Amino acid sequence: MKAHESILELIGRTPMVRLRTGIPESGPTAYVKLEFYNPTGSLKDRITYYILKKAMDEGRLRPGDTVIDNTSGNTGSALAMVASVLGLKSIVTTPEQTSHEKIDLIKSYGAEVIITPEVEDHDDPEGFFMVARRLAAEKGYFDMNQYHNQDNVEAHYLTTGPEIWEDTEGKITHFVCGIGTGGNFSGAARYLKEHNKDIKCIAVDPEGSIFAEYIKHNREVKGYAYKVEGIGSDVVTQALHPHLVDEVITVSDKDSFNRARLIARTEGISGGGSSGAVAFAMEQVARKADSGALLVGIFADAGIRYLSKCYNDNWMRQHGYLPQMEAK
Ligand SMILES: Cc1ncc(COP(=O)(O)O)c(C=O)c1O
Repeated sequence: MKAHESILELIGRTPMVRLRTGIPESGPTAYVKLEFYNPTGSLKDRITYYILKKAMDEGRLRPGDTVIDNTSGNTGSALAMVASVLGLKSIVTTPEQTSHEKIDLIKSYGAEVIITPEVEDHDDPEGFFMVARRLAAEKGYFDMNQYHNQDNVEAHYLTTGPEIWEDTEGKITHFVCGIGTGGNFSGAARYLKEHNKDIKCIAVDPEGSIFAEYIKHNREVKGYAYKVEGIGSDVVTQALHPHLVDEVITVSDKDSFNRARLIARTEGISGGGSSGAVAFAMEQVARKADSGALLVGIFADAGIRYLSKCYNDNWMRQHGYLPQMEAK
């Protein structure tokens, strides 16, 4: 039988598809890896399954135990789904601005969701990051701590990196990837560079995030708010290994969202805002690269998660990402 015994067997081995939008016709070839083919619709299934399975195999985590992490989206549903299959309990802390759809999705897989107030500072004891750490310490929960956990990086080193290498038959020349925790970038980039040190690894960061300045000048600046979800940060994360970054490209909210929408309408590939940012950066890379280059970008999740945001014309206009309607 060609059927699977568990949904967990369907994590990873995501397909790659040609990207044409913004790539010069006579120029390099570009593909995007569609991480929304994972069971909960994002790349985060990979790290959650790897982190929890490894901890169970090593006896650090047992069925019935509780796992906790802070997230504003994709990791929450991944954690809730994987925990339910492995017989674990899950708790997700999330800030109050997280959309109802996302909170309901996390709950649908059986997780408890703790909503925390929006705070300015990552270290604020009331914020979603610190509440998760505190509860883990006080109650003895297993702390996934994706931002600093090296098993996050390792999951991509062992899966995403090899898949890209094999699916391009080792011909990849440029890897383009958003950085949120940095786990996807660092794990896949390390694997690819170990196999061919000349592969250029390009990190994509939203305007307002602190990563670009940290990578370029080793300086920790203060970030500011932006709307693209999943990438960028207001603190340095240990899952990002900056020595692997050959170039960092900063993309605005407006360019990210409009590029995601354009690709959905012209190529039928519907990614989230971070996918739009990656595709926008891929155009810049493609314009500078040789015609024989082979680019691979990561589309971390799908547009369906953002129907009330960047795929909604009113929301786009309200934020000034689309021109205002002419008055009749
Ligand atoms: C939509 C989206 N894009 C990109 C990323 C970046 O992945 P990473 O955390 O591995 O850097 C994430 C991570 O949360 C995400 O949710």
